[in-house]
Parts: sequence; structure tokens; C-alpha cells
Amino acid sequence: MPEPQRVYLETYGCQMNVNDSEVVAAILKQHGFVITHEASGADVILVNTCSVRGNAEQRVLGRLDYFRQLKKKTPSLVIGVLGCMAERMKEQLFDKNNAIDLVVGPDSYRLLPVLIHRSKEERGVMHTLLSQQENYEDILPERLSSGGISAFVTIMRGCNNYCAYCVVPYVRGRERSRNPQTIIAEVKDLVSKGYKEVTLLGQNVNSYRWEDPSGKTLTFAGLLGLVAEVNPLLRVRFATSHPKDLSDDILQVMAGYANICKSIHLPLQSGSDAVLRKMNRGYSSEEYMKRIEAVYSIVPGCTVTTDIIAGFCGETEEDHQATLNIMRRAGYDYAYMFKYNPRPGTYAAEHYPDDVPDEVKTRRLNEIIALQQELSEKNKQAEKGKIVEVLVEGPSKKSPDEFSGRTSQNRVVVFPRGNSRPGDYVNVLITGYTPATLTGVIR
Ligand code: SAH
Ligand code: SF4
Ligand code: F3S
Repeated sequence: MPEPQRVYLETYGCQMNVNDSEVVAAILKQHGFVITHEASGADVILVNTCSVRGNAEQRVLGRLDYFRQLKKKTPSLVIGVLGCMAERMKEQLFDKNNAIDLVVGPDSYRLLPVLIHRSKEERGVMHTLLSQQENYEDILPERLSSGGISAFVTIMRGCNNYCAYCVVPYVRGRERSRNPQTIIAEVKDLVSKGYKEVTLLGQNVNSYRWEDPSGKTLTFAGLLGLVAEVNPLLRVRFATSHPKDLSDDILQVMAGYANICKSIHLPLQSGSDAVLRKMNRGYSSEEYMKRIEAVYSIVPGCTVTTDIIAGFCGETEEDHQATLNIMRRAGYDYAYMFKYNPRPGTYAAEHYPDDVPDEVKTRRLNEIIALQQELSEKNKQAEKGKIVEVLVEGPSKKSPDEFSGRTSQNRVVVFPRGNSRPGDYVNVLITGYTPATLTGVIR
């Protein structure tokens, strides 16, 4: 028997990529590979990559330079690039770094065992065809990073929205939904293994749609209810929601089940109608605010988080003020905030000049960040004195005597561990907060 090949997997990018790496690990294990947690000593290094902004790509290219050094010492080492950069850059990657043996796009992971073997005989093995179907639905992901409490479950892939700035539709392909039976089976399997939380993943989960042979359609609202019913002690989260597709039905299902977490990620991108139109987002600022109002009225106590881009093409000072204004009105709990970065091949990169000077982008981004800090702090301040239910996840970053967990609203809480254990639901009295978390004591 030959020694099993040891594979080291490193992941960049969004939650979908994290879950894809777990699919990759499952496929490789089925084919006799062993997953290792250290790059040195591995026979195969796979980097699952992100293309959403240039700096995400730069980080990976830097990392690949380092892996090239390892390969100098161990020439038999196989280095593979997976994911969105593989899809976007294709054979260009071989030119960027001559140590790369393998380039495999997000829909080709089933072929990895064969492609890895082939790359030992051929130079520059590549597979980047995108698929029209969900092609991993029967694979139970190998949970790599989770502590056995919370897991990601991909329910749809791809994106048809073509926001003008965004590379995702080009690197992830058309929207396609996964068979609900396989989703429910995966969720039940997680429950049987002791998991307490699932996050349903897709670039735009609201457009989940499954038609069964009899012609009945299951929407995202329907699927969400089915997942919530698997077990009342299993928390259910989902991401990402697109504001134009967030229906009242979905909000009603959220309100109807105690175990569906009361937090929603609803990317705004910009608060200016002119910019939103140019971004091809499919909603106006008032339509967006109507969705926010629906969230707060149908799902009381729900928190909302968002994504914002500063300095998109043609953005004026007035447009920027409109963004700050919507942020105040929406009262976001948290935000991911970025400077606009043109991505090759996107509509914006091809048609609109990137005309906001970098120092103006930076200043606007800083104003957005400062406002968000204020909003987050105000929300945390309002939690003081409340007793909240926390799902314990594990030791806090700072002290082994403290646990960290999250509330239904997706707020992190740190507290002295007492007799609690990871996976428990505990009631915590909120007594204070730090920049990143709420703090409290078990009641
Ligand atoms: N599917 C999700 C987001 C995918 S990308 C959605 O529709 O919201 C995550 C975030 O990256 C986006 O919401 C956006 O805020 C940001 N982003 C995407 N492309 C970008 C670009 N070219 N420059 C800066 N930020 C970008
Ligand atoms: Fe990108 Fe827009 Fe699709 Fe989100 S909805 S992945 S921002 S194109
Ligand atoms: Fe990045 Fe690809 Fe996700 S571009 S954000 S890893 S879908």
C-alpha cells in the first residue's frame, strides 16, 4: 500500500468558500487522501481563493510565492489554486507563479482526485468549466474549522444579478438551487452529530427555488420553515439576502419560529439612488428603507447588518451623505465596509471611469466606519441590563476562564464560563461591552 497523500487546504474569501473547502476535503477523503493542518510536510497544497477585491487576490499571490519556496525544497509537492481566482485568472496563474501545478474552478472539485494525480505527470493541469446544476448536493462536507456546534449548509450557488462592480457572477456562474431533500438530510445529519446551529448559504438565498417533478415550487420561505422544523433546538441562520428579493413571506417565517435567528444581513452598498441605479442593484433607497421597516415590524428585535461600498464610480459628496443617512435610519448592528475596487471584466470596470480619487474614497470610508462604530455602540449600550440567550461556542480569545457565544441577534457575548459547556444555551445578563463584544454573567 502506498502512503496516503497529505493535503493542506487554505481558504480565503466568503463563507461559501469555507464551506466549499469542506466539500473538497470530503471528496479527497473519499479518495484516500488525508487532510493535514500544516503546510510543511504536505504532499499537496490547495489554496481556495477569492477574487472579490484586488487585495484579496494580492494576499493569495503572496502566499503562493511562499509555497513556491517550499516546493524548492520538496520538488514533488503539488500546488493547486481553487475557487474564484482559478476561475477568473485561469492559465494566467501559471505565468504568475511557475510553481503552480493545478488550477481548478469552483464547479470542478469532484475531479480533484484525478486532476491531482494527473498534475504529477503533466504540467499545468486546469479545469474551470462552470456548471448549470448544483453538483455537490449529495456530499456531506468534512467540517474542518467548526468546533462541532455551528455549520454552514450551502443551499444555492451562483448569481444572476450582475451588480456592476461585482465579479461573483463571472466566477461562480448562474444561479442554481440545491435539492431540498439533500439539504434536510444534511441538516438532520448535523443534528445527529450534536450541532446546534446551521447557516444556510448562497450568494442570494432569497432567490432559492426548487421545482419538484409534480410542478410544485419550494421558495426560500418554504425551505426556511422546513429547516426550522428539523429540530426546535437547532438555530437557523442564513446569508446573504438581497434587498430586492426579501419578501414579507420570508420575514413571517422568521417571526414564526423561535429557532430562526433574529438577524439579517441586507447589503445596502449605497444610499444614493443615482449610485444604486448605476450599480444595477434593482432597488431605490426608499425601497430599501421599506424593507428595513418590514424587518423591524414583522420580526421584532431583529438586528440588521450590511455591506457598503465607498467611492463607486461617479459618487458625489451628496451621494456619500445619502449613504450615511440611510445608515443612521437603518441603525445597523454591524457593517462590512469597502473602498470601491474595479474588477476586470465587470460592467463598471469596462464602462465607468474609476473617478473618485483614492484619498476621497479613504476619507468617505473612514466616515462610514466612524458612523458605524457609533451605531454599533448605541445598540450595544441598549443591551445593558438585559438577559439574553447565548449559544456557547467555546473559550473566548482572551481567557480560558471565559466562554464566547452568540445571541439570536448574532451578537458575540463573552462571560465567565461557570459550569456551562460549548453547545449549551445559557441566559446571560449583559453588564457591559468592548469594541467587539458584549460582556456579561450567566444568570
Ligand atoms: N452576494 C452578496 C455579496 C457578495 S460580495 C450580496 O449580494 O450582497 C461581498 C461584498 O463585497 C459585497 O456586498 C460588496 O459590498 C463588496 N464588493 C463586491 N465587489 C466589490 C468591489 N468591486 N469593490 C469593493 N467592494 C466590493
Ligand atoms: Fe455580487 Fe450583486 Fe450577485 Fe451579490 S447580488 S454576488 S453583489 S452580483
Ligand atoms: Fe470571494 Fe468568490 Fe466568495 S469572489 S466573496 S470567494 S464567491
